[in-house]
Amino acid sequence: MAEIVIVRDADEAGEVAADAIERLISRKPDAVLGLATGSTPLTTWAALAKRRLDLSRVRGFALDEYVGLPEGHPESYRAVIDREVVEPLGLTPELIHVPGDSGPIETAGADYENAIHAAGGIDLQVLGLGRTGHIGFNEPGSSFASLTRIKTLTEQTRRDNARFFSSLDDVPTHCITQGLGTILRAHHLVLLAFGEAKAETVAGAVEGPLTSRLPGSVIQLHPRVTVIVDEAAGSRLDYADYYRFAWEHRLDWEK
Ligand code: GLP
Repeated sequence: MAEIVIVRDADEAGEVAADAIERLISRKPDAVLGLATGSTPLTTWAALAKRRLDLSRVRGFALDEYVGLPEGHPESYRAVIDREVVEPLGLTPELIHVPGDSGPIETAGADYENAIHAAGGIDLQVLGLGRTGHIGFNEPGSSFASLTRIKTLTEQTRRDNARFFSSLDDVPTHCITQGLGTILRAHHLVLLAFGEAKAETVAGAVEGPLTSRLPGSVIQLHPRVTVIVDEAAGSRLDYADYYRFAWEHRLDWEK
């Protein structure tokens, strides 16, 4: 079972996620992090930045990227990762990779998989959850075995992300994303979600049937998952009391 942590708010969730990352980095200063974009991980990056750790040797692989934006576009995930993660955390830009950032787009998926493999795999993958239940940009219908590849975005996701662009028409129709199979290969998954609007999706991902209709449900196949939600996002979980009890009574070696 995944470790489900229900906290007061996004700030507390950021501290819990930062604890997991700090523990990893103190053991392995050149750890490989899987980096998510979106508003959800922002409190995690903020909590980590406050700790002033030396993260200069940390390597990173972004989950996903739009396809078709001009280079340097401020809403490309390369630019977002640079602005929101690399700079505040003091990561080394050359050690941070984004899918599609080198070589031809036709082989970008396979190239990214090779790069992750060559780095020894992802130690800890940070994940958010989209409204369609996607993780990365793995929209409904994504294979649980999928690897990094080009995908078409759903209308819902394009509408959700239109807030970052001048109009819906400016939101790319395509993306390149780590697959669900890529995500399953990471050693530890840390999935965060906040707010009432995510409650149904969180319950489906954690307790619902395993289904490609809700790609986030793939986490049930992973042996080491930490799901961190605020009260609102955790409000539809049937076993919330049990998760709280398990977290409060976790054994020393689990901390
Ligand atoms: C985008 C990203 C996802 C992210 C999702 C949720 O679609 N590709 O990685 O999890 O948005 O975004 P937010 O955290 O802003 O709710």
